[in-house]
Amino acid sequence: MLRLCARSMNRNLFLVTRLYSTPAAATKYQLTPEDIFKREDTYGAHNYHPLPAALAKGEGVFVWDVTGKRYFDFLAAYSAVNQGHCHPRIVKTLQDQAEILTLTSRAFYNDVLGEFEEFATKLFGYDKLLPMNTGVEGGETACKLARKWGYHVKGIPANKAKIVFAEENFWGRTLAAVSSSSDPDCYGEYGPFMPGFELISYNDLGALEVLFIADEVQTGLGRTGRRLCVDHENVRPDLVVLGKALSGGVYPVSAVLCDDEVMLTIKPGQHGSTYGGNPLGCKVAITALKVLEEEKMAEHAAKLGEIMVPELKKLNPAVVKTARGKGLMNAIEIRPTNDAVLCHLGFQEVLTETGQDRKANGYNVQKTE
Ligand SMILES: Cc1ncc(COP(=O)(O)O)c(C=O)c1O
Repeated sequence: MLRLCARSMNRNLFLVTRLYSTPAAATKYQLTPEDIFKREDTYGAHNYHPLPAALAKGEGVFVWDVTGKRYFDFLAAYSAVNQGHCHPRIVKTLQDQAEILTLTSRAFYNDVLGEFEEFATKLFGYDKLLPMNTGVEGGETACKLARKWGYHVKGIPANKAKIVFAEENFWGRTLAAVSSSSDPDCYGEYGPFMPGFELISYNDLGALEVLFIADEVQTGLGRTGRRLCVDHENVRPDLVVLGKALSGGVYPVSAVLCDDEVMLTIKPGQHGSTYGGNPLGCKVAITALKVLEEEKMAEHAAKLGEIMVPELKKLNPAVVKTARGKGLMNAIEIRPTNDAVLCHLGFQEVLTETGQDRKANGYNVQKTE
């Protein structure tokens, strides 16, 4: 979900420069998109295949590339910037706290962690929170908690706990996460895999006596039109994993929420992270959550989704097979033969090719944009 409120920005004044070397010896050099593609290709691992847009600035719903071309960011950094790019309140919180205290390690108490834990547990209605950094660490933490609970509370014999995942799940890139994957690109040649993981089809859980872990790293925090996606179903998971928009795209913060019966199965020294729970991340997360709540972003996403999905359904059926989603978390399914068409035109150009202007929350997305 990105906020469709364009903060003023004169794209003509926008010039991207990079300063090389020390400030004294700096020379201004404007990188072209091709320079940027080539540099990443030369010096970076090839574990991504980005679309050919070299982005240099983000604000609200928009991103700009190094030539000053403006795009709507429908991807929203995979839901990490649900609050919009560089939300001023979140950035200000980051700046303020960065000058006070950034990291203490969990060898000591710090004066912000408890504030974040209290705020988030009261907001989501759980007893306790365990902070980590990335989404996949949140998922790993949830798996560890589930296993601990299985042995301590449920009495499962040692090393016999099972964790059941839905097929086609994705929860990150660690060995545990790829061990539960049904996508050969994710798990291929990374074995041997984590034992005790089982895959089932979606909607085929049956009446099992299990802990329910909801990974809301991507679906959570407003984008689907509710605070959590599970809120659409009126269910309360035993564990909720949050990440991405928990810090509005400015700092990696993830967390697991659950009640004491589960959380207190992990004892001191049995799990942790150097950066998890650091004051900088905690302050950022509090503001990121406040922004979502106070600016009513979930409600906003719900309203815009009602506009967006019917419009997506009008896209050229020769290219777009179907459109579906909740709130502003929507997908279009491209007919395989038209992959290349989409890549060349770009998502937005495909949209505008339909010749439709769309009015959303007072912001008129023009054909030419
Ligand atoms: C549902 C879900 N869970 C977990 C993750 C992993 O998050 P991260 O990349 O921050 O480790 C992702 C990443 O896209 C995700 O979509």
